[in-house]
Amino acid sequence: MYQIIDGKNVANQIKQEIADEVADIKKKGGKIPHLVAILVGTDGASETYVSHKEKACERVGFRSTIVRMKESVTENELLDKIAEFNHDDDIDGMIVQLPLPDHISEHKVIETINPKKDVDGFHPVNIGRMVIGFPSYVSATPAGIVELLKRYKIEISGKSCVVIGRSNIVGTPLSILLSRKTSYGNATVTLCHSRTPNITELSSKADIIIVAMGKARFLTADMVKEGAVVIDVGTTRIKSDKTKSGWKLVGDVAFDEVAPKCSYITPVPGGVGPMTIVSLLKNTLKASRKEKN
Ligand code: GUN
Repeated sequence: MYQIIDGKNVANQIKQEIADEVADIKKKGGKIPHLVAILVGTDGASETYVSHKEKACERVGFRSTIVRMKESVTENELLDKIAEFNHDDDIDGMIVQLPLPDHISEHKVIETINPKKDVDGFHPVNIGRMVIGFPSYVSATPAGIVELLKRYKIEISGKSCVVIGRSNIVGTPLSILLSRKTSYGNATVTLCHSRTPNITELSSKADIIIVAMGKARFLTADMVKEGAVVIDVGTTRIKSDKTKSGWKLVGDVAFDEVAPKCSYITPVPGGVGPMTIVSLLKNTLKASRKEKN
């Protein structure tokens, strides 16, 4: 029988741990962590993500500010705003919600954020530091997945891991995190992507499979060996007449057929998603403490 990895429950535990730390900071008259999220345009999914982040900040006692900019904002206006926040000592962490409109360069935006305030861990300085094992902000989803595996005491050292999807935000940093020579690493990682011809051949031998492709129900039972651990990062919105919002989230894993073959599996929603936000909170707390990064 497989065990569900309950990301929501773990995330709630960690939020409580963070809330306790914030209460302690308050008691000692220290600075309350402050996260700023910049949201450009009115993309529905981005609105939802940012409002979840704001609620999570409230819940643990952080200050949070959402700065909304019009879809038509120029690249320079956005870069100027980031530069202003870089110099504002009241702001500990800053995120610019992606994706951005086509006329704005994501690269320029990410590189303009002060790496010490880059709590998304997207800046090349943070990615570079992470790769060589220096203290850094690690991007939220990979950090959340590693934390989930740790809290469920799932051994990764010496295991074969297949990561499917090579985005800068999830697949690529995660493949490095799992293989690093650190206290929780040392896995043998294969990073699969759209040009990998034989994903099934590779995934069906893996002890741990992490799917971050953004293709609904991509991973099917024939791609998974008995007893594997499966982590689903997918969040595709599909129309549904059974929910109030008119849509529901589905993962990259065909859960019903894959789960019976697994030892552990994450659901969607309630698996990786809640852990992503918690990682962002942890990074913001770290930033407010000006911990060396
Ligand atoms: N868009 C999708 N995921 C993320 C994330 O983790 N951070 C930001 N800033 N944008 C995103």
